Amino acid sequence: MIDPQRFREVMATFPSGVVVLTAFGDDSLPRGLTVSAFCAVSLKPSLALACVDKTSNTLPAVQHAGGFTANILAAGREQLARQMASKLTDKFDGIKWRRPESDRGGPILEADSAAYAVCTLKETIEAGDHWILIGTVVEGAHTEGVSPMIFSRRGYFGL
Ligand SMILES: Cc1cc2nc3c(=O)[nH]c(=O)nc-3n(C[C@H](O)[C@H](O)[C@H](O)COP(=O)(O)O)c2cc1C
Repeated sequence: MIDPQRFREVMATFPSGVVVLTAFGDDSLPRGLTVSAFCAVSLKPSLALACVDKTSNTLPAVQHAGGFTANILAAGREQLARQMASKLTDKFDGIKWRRPESDRGGPILEADSAAYAVCTLKETIEAGDHWILIGTVVEGAHTEGVSPMIFSRRGYFGL
């Protein structure tokens, strides 16, 4: 098998967007983490997936709510990406969010996103040290004129 450090370097070269995946916990409080492993899976039905580390503190909220929201960050939101990639318990302090129509979705960070997709959890597949969360996209929107943020080789870029 490839050396883990080399694997990281290879995969970090592949450019991605940056998503803040959110869900409401059993205490109704917002939870979330930064993910780059997010992509479309199927058009009909509309499916998308995210890969989340088994140690994530956001996972129990996703399981409890039966869904999540993928907030595709707008360019220039590095600080938010770093904050959501921390293990702090008060990650949402000072962050503007609203509830989706679906009671299974997570907080929508409209002011910081170029687009968002509200998902109901369809399938959870175990894959190594991560879970693959496959969601049915039930709601979503994109903001014309707002560029997404790009992540590659640990650097953040605008389009
Ligand atoms: C740009 C970026 C991309 C990341 N991508 C992922 C990812 O795809 N999956 C994942 O589980 N963690 C990813 N992380 C790490 C998580 O954001 C980090 O482990 C976070 O602390 C988890 O928070 P939680 O335990 O509160 O859920 C990424 C971090 C950054 C900065």
